[in-house]
Amino acid sequence: MSKVQIVTGGTSGMGKATAKAISKYGPVVIAGRSLERMQGALDELRADGVEVYGIACDISDIESVKNLAVEASKIGEIGNVVNAAAVAMETSTPEQIARIDVQGTVNVVETFLPLMAEGSAMGLFSSTTGRMYQPTPEQHALYAESFGQDFGDRFLAALPQGMDSADERIAQMPPSYVAYFAAKNWVMYYAAANASRFGARGLRIFSVAPGSFVTPMLPIDEGFRAMTSAQTALGRLGDPDEMASLFAALLDPSVAYLTGTDVLMDGGMFAKQFVPQLA
Ligand SMILES: NC(=O)c1ccc[n+]([C@@H]2O[C@H](COP(=O)([O-])OP(=O)(O)OC[C@H]3O[C@@H](n4cnc5c(N)ncnc54)[C@H](OP(=O)(O)O)[C@@H]3O)[C@@H](O)[C@H]2O)c1
Repeated sequence: MSKVQIVTGGTSGMGKATAKAISKYGPVVIAGRSLERMQGALDELRADGVEVYGIACDISDIESVKNLAVEASKIGEIGNVVNAAAVAMETSTPEQIARIDVQGTVNVVETFLPLMAEGSAMGLFSSTTGRMYQPTPEQHALYAESFGQDFGDRFLAALPQGMDSADERIAQMPPSYVAYFAAKNWVMYYAAANASRFGARGLRIFSVAPGSFVTPMLPIDEGFRAMTSAQTALGRLGDPDEMASLFAALLDPSVAYLTGTDVLMDGGMFAKQFVPQLA
């Protein structure tokens, strides 16, 4: 029996592409803040034949996420959940990143974990930036306390002040970049740290780390495209549909032994940057 598929951030970019790809598992609910963006996504997905519903939600607000769950449950039993909602480091403050990318993720996990039908899975979005980030001992200690409505605030308070960081690259980054890198590093940890909790209920959880994909989140001009493409083994940016296909595959019951891990999809960027390539 098909279950309702939830995609936060399903109104744009990789979330929207994923909403379409996972519609084979059941009706899809896309959630986001902008009603205009949502209507555009609903029109596009419906034109593609997707059974899709839109529910306004701000994941940084726990009451809003609870409302999403209540409204989605009226459509049917909750199945897979994809948390694609996040804000960009280029256009957001560290406070917004802590509130949305971090606290919002906690809110989605805490709200939907008790509701998901056995055999379902939750997918989070991390990032290659998270893989490049080394948390400080203070941050790492905080990871073990990834719960509560004040977690975003505690996460923000524990961010290293750029100039204090031992990592030279981190020390040179603007504060919002440090916050985003740290948030995505935490997402990878958080998916792994939730594996047993989900497993005890017959559920899975994982994160996927995208490299650079062509979505509204990235400030893509010709210079950025050329520079970023050159950093990958494949010489190009990623297509949101490629990410959507990966999510659809990872949510498939046929890979039911995959949980508690981060899956990298970056066109070989990490390999090329950090592993000496054979001639
Ligand atoms: N694009 C990349 O190359 C890249 C690389 C690494 C990781 N990622 C990660 O991949 C995920 C998807 O990114 P994308 O590039 O597809 O992003 P995008 O096109 O900018 O879409 C972001 C989505 O999140 C929603 N959103 C933002 N804040 C929200 C909130 N507080 N509550 C609910 N929804 C919210 C947005 O809608 P509203 O603004 O209307 O709410 C939008 O639907 C994100 O987690 C991002 O960090 C992206």
